[in-house]
Amino acid sequence: MLQIPPAGYRKSLDVAVDAIAKKIDIEPRVGLILGSGLGGFAETLVDSIAIRYEEIPDWPSSTVEGHAGQLFVGMHGETPVATMQGRVHLYEGYEPWEIVFPVRALSLLGCSALVVTNAAGAINRDFAAGELMLITDHINLQGTNACLGANIDDFGNRFFDMTYSYDPEYLDLARNVARGQGVNLREGVYAGVLGPSYETPAEIHMLETIGADAVGMSTVQEVIAANQAGLRVVGISCLSNMAAGVADKPLDHKEVMETGERVQETFIALVDDLVSRIALLGAF
Ligand code: HPA
Repeated sequence: MLQIPPAGYRKSLDVAVDAIAKKIDIEPRVGLILGSGLGGFAETLVDSIAIRYEEIPDWPSSTVEGHAGQLFVGMHGETPVATMQGRVHLYEGYEPWEIVFPVRALSLLGCSALVVTNAAGAINRDFAAGELMLITDHINLQGTNACLGANIDDFGNRFFDMTYSYDPEYLDLARNVARGQGVNLREGVYAGVLGPSYETPAEIHMLETIGADAVGMSTVQEVIAANQAGLRVVGISCLSNMAAGVADKPLDHKEVMETGERVQETFIALVDDLVSRIALLGAF
């Protein structure tokens, strides 16, 4: 279990950032990562440039159905943003430092806020499939950490605080936006697991016991790297299904994708307003 970046890692980030910077003429301030079935927000940007991940040196490309794999850089109102349509996961065989390569690139490009989204299974029995959950905190159960290895000081300190990993002010913004839109935005703790198998009912029972409200296979490494880099983070899960054993039926990736599609409109409206509010708050 090596999981530490190769010697050229820092340099490869500069190369990737240069390649992106050459294609764009704005400096993105807010970065977004759109999860399974939630990519539609990227298409709402104005004057956007779409860069396929394969075009960016060392940028990890996703292999999962539903993760298109493009970076959109464009304007959201007055705010320059960079939106990742699709991400990679540890279960695809990527290393933790590869998973967070894009987050670090977004930070180097100028982003100081990060909106992370994902599809997740609902553990909390009060929740329903198709609802959205504001991530108030996470539990990293992936058995690894994006910051393993010699610390790269450019990315932040070796030991960094995770108490406010999901920015309290951004949490309030999201609550206000949801209230304004009449969206029943749930709140809870996201447990990040490795996958790719879905959990057993016993595992879900364990996750419930340790305080998780939803479970998914992404996000936690990205949020760790973002916090190290000093980005302010807000996260939203699309609860695509009830977790294993919570509802008496088997899980299916198709259901995850379909729920994403079904809630896209609500989701896009929420993210749209949220990004506007983040921009209003300023402090970029
Ligand atoms: N478990 C893990 N990851 C997921 C789930 C789930 O139930 N739904 C969507 N992503």
